[in-house]
Amino acid sequence: MSGDRDAAADATQDLETDRELVGIVAVADNGVIGKDGDMPWHIPEDLRHFKETTMDHPVIMGRVTYEGILETLGEPLPGRTTVVLTSRDLETPEGAVVAHGLEDALETAEAAAIERHGGTDRIFVAGGATVYEQFLPVVDRLIATEVHDDPDGDTSFPEWDRAEWKLVSRDERDGFAFLEYVRRE
Ligand SMILES: NC(=O)c1ccc[n+]([C@@H]2O[C@H](COP(=O)([O-])OP(=O)(O)OC[C@H]3O[C@@H](n4cnc5c(N)ncnc54)[C@H](OP(=O)(O)O)[C@@H]3O)[C@@H](O)[C@H]2O)c1
Repeated sequence: MSGDRDAAADATQDLETDRELVGIVAVADNGVIGKDGDMPWHIPEDLRHFKETTMDHPVIMGRVTYEGILETLGEPLPGRTTVVLTSRDLETPEGAVVAHGLEDALETAEAAAIERHGGTDRIFVAGGATVYEQFLPVVDRLIATEVHDDPDGDTSFPEWDRAEWKLVSRDERDGFAFLEYVRRE
């Protein structure tokens, strides 16, 4: 993590939003979430779950994750505003906007939701690892797909203290499970 990123993480605790901040991730038993800019598995049911859960809400993600989605879909996630965290001056197509820091990302997400949907109850934080790491201290809810596998990968979900989280639902499927945690008061 760069010095700039350290500073950004320190500033996380000061972030404020009236919306529920929701982390959403698919994570293998060994903590892996990514490989070569993509996910190391293809689980259509999880992709549908991600789509249904995030539809009509702003979704914050890092530039690397965003570029992976652009490569796969040829466009940003349909039906949602993607807020791309980057230090670069990126040109983005319709449906994606750039933010240069965490506070900027939240403000941009709220503004986009008001403009597009008249507001939002939730803002999603959709990775990758650098973005989960910075936002996790202020995430209210974590929607996790646990993939029961130990794949090779180059990107992992950050260490997190499960004692700080209460498991509120678990839906076991074939080879994976949908879980939902809320931060303990
Ligand atoms: N399994 C899952 O649920 C899941 C979800 C998401 C992603 N993934 C996987 O994770 C991998 C990508 O994760 P990653 O950690 O390598 O990259 P990432 O978090 O997607 O993107 C990293 C980039 O985001 C930008 N960034 C992050 N924090 C910033 C800040 N505070 N201010 C400005 N810019 C900031 C920087 O872009 P610049 O370099 O442009 O400045 C940084 O290089 C991929 O393999 C992807 O498929 C998996």
